[in-house]
Amino acid sequence: HTVYIPGDAAAVSLGADRVAAAVKQEAEKRGMQIKLVRNGSRGLFWLEPLLEVETPNGRIAYGPVQVKDVAGLFDANFVAGGQHALSLGLIEELPYLKNQQRLTFQRIGITDPVSLDDYIAHDGYRGLKNALGMSGADIVKQVTDSGLRGRGGAAFPTGIKWSTVLNTPSEQKYIICNADEGDSGTFSDRMVMEGDPFVLIEGMTIAGIAVGATQGYIYLRVEYPHAHKALNAAIQKAYAAGYLGDKILGSGKKFDLEVRLGAGAYICGEETSLMESLEGKRGLVRFKPPLPAIKGLFGKPTIVNNVISLASVPIILDKGGEFYRDYGMGRSRGTLPLQLAGNIKYPGLVEIAFGMTLRELLYDYGGGSASGRPIKAVQVGGPLGAYMPESQFDTPLDYEAFAAIWAVLGHGGVVAFDDTVDMADMARYSMEFCKIESCGKCTPCRIGSTRGVEVITDIIEGRDLAKNVPLLRDLCNTLLNGSLCALGGMTPYPVLSALNHFPEDFGIAGQADA
Ligand code: NAI
Ligand code: SF4
Repeated sequence: HTVYIPGDAAAVSLGADRVAAAVKQEAEKRGMQIKLVRNGSRGLFWLEPLLEVETPNGRIAYGPVQVKDVAGLFDANFVAGGQHALSLGLIEELPYLKNQQRLTFQRIGITDPVSLDDYIAHDGYRGLKNALGMSGADIVKQVTDSGLRGRGGAAFPTGIKWSTVLNTPSEQKYIICNADEGDSGTFSDRMVMEGDPFVLIEGMTIAGIAVGATQGYIYLRVEYPHAHKALNAAIQKAYAAGYLGDKILGSGKKFDLEVRLGAGAYICGEETSLMESLEGKRGLVRFKPPLPAIKGLFGKPTIVNNVISLASVPIILDKGGEFYRDYGMGRSRGTLPLQLAGNIKYPGLVEIAFGMTLRELLYDYGGGSASGRPIKAVQVGGPLGAYMPESQFDTPLDYEAFAAIWAVLGHGGVVAFDDTVDMADMARYSMEFCKIESCGKCTPCRIGSTRGVEVITDIIEGRDLAKNVPLLRDLCNTLLNGSLCALGGMTPYPVLSALNHFPEDFGIAGQADA
C-alpha cells in the first residue's frame, strides 16, 4: 500500500508530520506494510493535511486529517480506498484541481520530490535530453517562441533575456535563480522547490547549456528551510546520476549548481542587490544599465530568472514552444500559478492559462471570503501591487489588462480582504513596508517612505486634509518617477489605489486618479 502525506511547509504547519508519524505507528501496531511517501502539497490548503492512497482506479484522498482520525481511517480500510467521513474521492476529480491547467506544476503532489527515478518516470529530464542535441540559439528560440515572460513579476520576455546573454561573449557566464520569494501571500516558488526540485534544476541546466554558462546559483531565502533541504538532496542526486557536473549525460556540456542562502532582506529579491549579496556584500541596489544580462554577477553576463520562469523551461523544451504558447491570451502566453490567500474560503495554488477573470478566481476557485462577508478589496501582485475594488473583478488575468487599469499581476499573489478592512490603514501599512525594507540608496524611497507614513497618519487622524492629501499624491509621484528600483517605484500602487478606490476610508470624497 502506498500512502502519500505531503511533507512541504504548508502541510507540515497544519500537522502533516504528526499525522505521518501516527499513520506509521498505527500501521506497525496492526502489522501492516505501508510505503509512506512525503509528496509535495497539491495546493488545496483547506484540506491539508491531505492524505492519499494509491488504488487501481487512481488516488483516493482524505482530508483534512488530524492525528485523532488516523485509527478510524485504518478501521475504514483507507489503504484500499475505504469510505470514511473524511473521504474526498478521487483527488484528480476534485473540481479545484481538475479544472486547472498544470504545466509547471504537472508533477507536484504526485511524485516523491527527491526521487530522481520518480521524476524521470513522470517525464522529467526530457527537456534537457532534447536541449543537449540542440544549438544554444535553437534552445533560446524555443523559449522565445513559447512567449514565456518573467514570472517573478516584471514579465520581461525570457527568450530576449536569454538571447542577450547568449550573444554577449565572455569566458564565464552565470545562471541565477531568484528564489527570494518575498511577496506577501505568495508561495508558488516554495511549492516548486519543495514539491518538485528537479524541475528547477533541469530548467537551470537547460539555461546554462543554452547560453554557455557553467555555474548556477539558487539564491534562496533563509525562511525556506524545507526548500533548502529538498533542493540540496535533489542536487546531490542529480550530480550522482550525471545530470549535473562535467560531461552532462556523457555530452561535452558542464553545469555546476549550488544553493546560497539570503539573510532575510526583501530588497535582496531585486536582481542587482541579490547579486551584491551573492558576492558577499550588503544588499544594495545597483544602477542599471549595465543590465545583468551583460554585466551581472562578478561583472559577467548573467541570467537572473525567477523559480517559476526556470521551472517552466523543461516542459517547453520537452513539448516545444508552440505547445506552451497555445495557452493564454494576448501577449500573456502559457499559464500562471496563482496563489490565493488572505480572507478566502478555499486558499491555495491555482495554475491556469492567462485569461480567466479575477472574479472567477475569487469565487469559482476561492469560494468567496472565509468570513462569509463581501470581498471589499483584493491586492494582486504582492505588497507593491494595487488594491483592486469589486468594480475591477471582471478584469482578465493578463499582464496588459492589468496594466491598463494601473494594476499588476506580478508574481501571481492574490490576497483578499472583506468589508471590515480599513483601506487607509492598508495604505499606511504599504508605505511602512517600504520604509522598513528600503535599502537606503536613493532619497525618494529612503526619506519619502518615512515622510509618507507620517502624512498618511495625519490623514487618518483627520489633520488638514486639504493640504495632506495633495501632499501624499505629490510624494507618490516622486516615488514613482524618482526611485531607483521597484520597491520605491511601486509603493504608490497600493497607496494610491487605496486612496482612489476607497476615498471614504480616508475621510475624503472621491478624487480623480493621480
Ligand atoms: P525590470 O522591468 O527592471 O526588469 C525585468 C527584467 O528584465 C530584469 O531581469 C532586467 O534585467 C531584464 N531586462 C530588461 N531589459 C533587458 C534587455 N534588453 N535584455 C535583457 N534583459 C533585460 O523589473 P525588476 O526591477 O527586475 O522587477 C520588478 C518586479 O519585481 C515588479 O514588477 C514586482 O512585481 C516584482 N517583485 C517580485 C517579488 C517576488 O517576491 N517575486 C518581490 C518584489 C517585486
Ligand atoms: Fe533602495 Fe528604495 Fe531606492 Fe530601491 S527605491 S534603490 S530599495 S532606496
